[in-house]
Amino acid sequence: MPDKQVTLLLDDVSKSFAKVENDTVTHALHRVSAEMHNGEFVSIVGPSGCGKSTILNLVAGLILPTTGKVLVNDKEIESPAPDRGLVFQNPTLFPWLTVRDNIAFSLDMQRKRKGHEDKVDRMLEIIGLAGFADDYPGQLSGGMAQRVALVRTLINEPSILLLDEPLGALDAFTRMNMQDEILKMWREQRQLALMVTHDVDEAIYMSTRILVMNANPGRITHDLAIDLPYPRDRSSDEFVEFRKDILNKLHFGGNHDL
Ligand SMILES: Nc1ncnc2c1ncn2[C@@H]1O[C@H](COP(=O)(O)OP(=O)(O)OP(=O)(O)O)[C@@H](O)[C@H]1O
Ligand SMILES: [Mg+2]
Repeated sequence: MPDKQVTLLLDDVSKSFAKVENDTVTHALHRVSAEMHNGEFVSIVGPSGCGKSTILNLVAGLILPTTGKVLVNDKEIESPAPDRGLVFQNPTLFPWLTVRDNIAFSLDMQRKRKGHEDKVDRMLEIIGLAGFADDYPGQLSGGMAQRVALVRTLINEPSILLLDEPLGALDAFTRMNMQDEILKMWREQRQLALMVTHDVDEAIYMSTRILVMNANPGRITHDLAIDLPYPRDRSSDEFVEFRKDILNKLHFGGNHDL
C-alpha cells in the first residue's frame, strides 16, 4: 500500500530445526536482530543454508521463531496474510488455471476481483505476457512461469514484499528487465521490500540496504547502506567498490590460494 507506515522488527530471533532421525538440531538462525521500514529495499545475501529463506518464512508467518520475536508495527506475526506477500524460491502455479486466473487468484480468494480486471491486465503487460493470458502454466517456459508467480503476489500490493530469489530461474536479459520492473513498482508504492538473492550485483543494483549473512549458525554479519541514486550504473566506480567490499565480506574477494 502506498504511504503505509511499516516497521518490521526482528528482535533477537533464533530458529532451530530438530531432526528426529539422527537427533540433531540445526541452528538456522542465531540471535538475529534487524529493524526495517517502508521505503527500504533490503536484500539478504549469504551462502546456501545460512538462514535467508528462514528469515522470509518467519516474516511471512509460515513458521514461528524458537526464541525472540518478529513484529510488524509492534504486533507479533502469528500467521500469513496477503499484506505480507511472499514470492517463493521455487514457485508453482496452479496448472488448472489460466495465466490470467493464476494472477487473479488471490483477488478471487478475497472476493476482490470485480473491478480489478484492469490491474490484472497491467500485470500481464508488465511481464510481457498479455498474449498468454488464456494459456495454461504447462504451456509456459520456466522464466515466464516465474514472472507470473511474481505478479501474482505483487497484485495484492503487500506492504511488506518478500522475494526469495524471485529472478533466479530467469535468463540474464529477462532478469535485468524484471529488476527494473520490480524497482519501478517499489518506487511507486514505497513498501518495504525484503529480497533474498545469490547475485551480489542484483543486490547492489536494487537495494537501499544489504544484509550479509553467514552460516553455522545463521546470523547477520554486516548491515550496509547502499547510498547510490537510481537508476544505478553497474559499471560505476562506486558500484564496483560495493561489489568488491561485499564479495570480501562473503570471503570471495579473490585473495584465496587457487
Ligand atoms: N523446515 C525445515 N526443517 C528442517 N531444517 C530446515 C527447515 N528449513 C530450513 N532448515 C535448515 O535451516 C538451515 C537454513 O535454511 P534456509 O532455507 O533458511 O537457508 P537459505 O539461506 O535460504 O539457503 P539457500 O540459499 O540454499 O536457499 C539449513 O541448514 C536448512 O537445512
Ligand atoms: Mg533459500
